[in-house]
Amino acid sequence: MMTAAPRQADQNAIAEAAAHIRAGRLVAMPTETVYGLAADATNDRACAAVFEAKGRPRFNPLIVHVADVAMAARYADVPPLAEKLAAAFWPGALTLVVPRKAGADLSLLASAGLDTVALRTPAHAVAQDLIAAAGAPLAAPSANPSGAVSPTTAAHVAEGLGDKVAMILDAGPCRVGVESTILGIEGDRARLLRPGGLARAEIEAVAGPLLAPLADQDKPQAPGALQSHYAPRAKVRLNAKNPLEGEAFLGFGSVARQAPNALNLSPTGDLAEAAANLFAFLRRLDNQAATIAIAPIPQHGLGEAINDRLSRAAAPRPTLPESG
Ligand code: TXA
Ligand code: MG
Repeated sequence: MMTAAPRQADQNAIAEAAAHIRAGRLVAMPTETVYGLAADATNDRACAAVFEAKGRPRFNPLIVHVADVAMAARYADVPPLAEKLAAAFWPGALTLVVPRKAGADLSLLASAGLDTVALRTPAHAVAQDLIAAAGAPLAAPSANPSGAVSPTTAAHVAEGLGDKVAMILDAGPCRVGVESTILGIEGDRARLLRPGGLARAEIEAVAGPLLAPLADQDKPQAPGALQSHYAPRAKVRLNAKNPLEGEAFLGFGSVARQAPNALNLSPTGDLAEAAANLFAFLRRLDNQAATIAIAPIPQHGLGEAINDRLSRAAAPRPTLPESG
């Protein structure tokens, strides 16, 4: 893919970047915290491309960047405390994890199959202009390969992901330079999920004392630790070449079935397409049978993340009630 890095992100560059976003491509955008790897958050395929570009071994949920609280309310149920915090700190370095709105036009992959979504209104004018020009919420993790440090200049982005993005919007160094503070909203209390660019004292002045981070920073809130949040109700049987009597079947490539309770993650064996379909297809099969048999998925590329997700879905779930 081509990389264009104008010294200053002007309106032409933003219009070009917005066209890339609408076409499902990835754009590196400046925010006041760090550069983000932005994709249309309503587009499953574009969100899959984010994980693919970062080489994420599993599907961590992404932060969805919105223009304001009104736009947030199209995709999430914004509880009163979140509304209050947004009024105080948006636009700014604060991300709020709130329940996804039922039926929201938002990729399930953006929130990694969780029932919650992380939302933020960035303060950077270029990020705001890009959201407006694209006319879409932007899913954007930090624009670095998985495991590398977050980029605070366009040059950092180019070093790590230059060949993975359609365009880098260069607006110079990021003002804040560390990622946003992430809060989980739990009723009328807020839990610190990740310390970041907005200091605790400022937040506590508005929200009262924060609940302690869970044991391992934001990890316990991520899909791996909260299996019941994304495991289907049906049992999951992995590496299945054939469905048994009564099982639903999730195929991949040529390992597929023509049946009312069968779907194929990617008839052509494309792992990015499979990732884009994964969460939606699991949900569609979930009510069709007591067990979903799933075809073998290769372990390379996005296959590693898909298999991570599937093995967690297949793991024993002693605490999940039968009627779930
Ligand atoms: O400043 C920032 O936050 C930057 C800029 C680009 O906005 N973005 C960023 O994204 O740091 P990322 O993907 O590198 O970090 C997002 C974090 C992850 O640790 C993820 O686990 C957490 O947000 N997160 C996202 N959605 C979540 C959810 N529904 N529940 C819990 N944690 C969530
Ligand atoms: Mg990051």
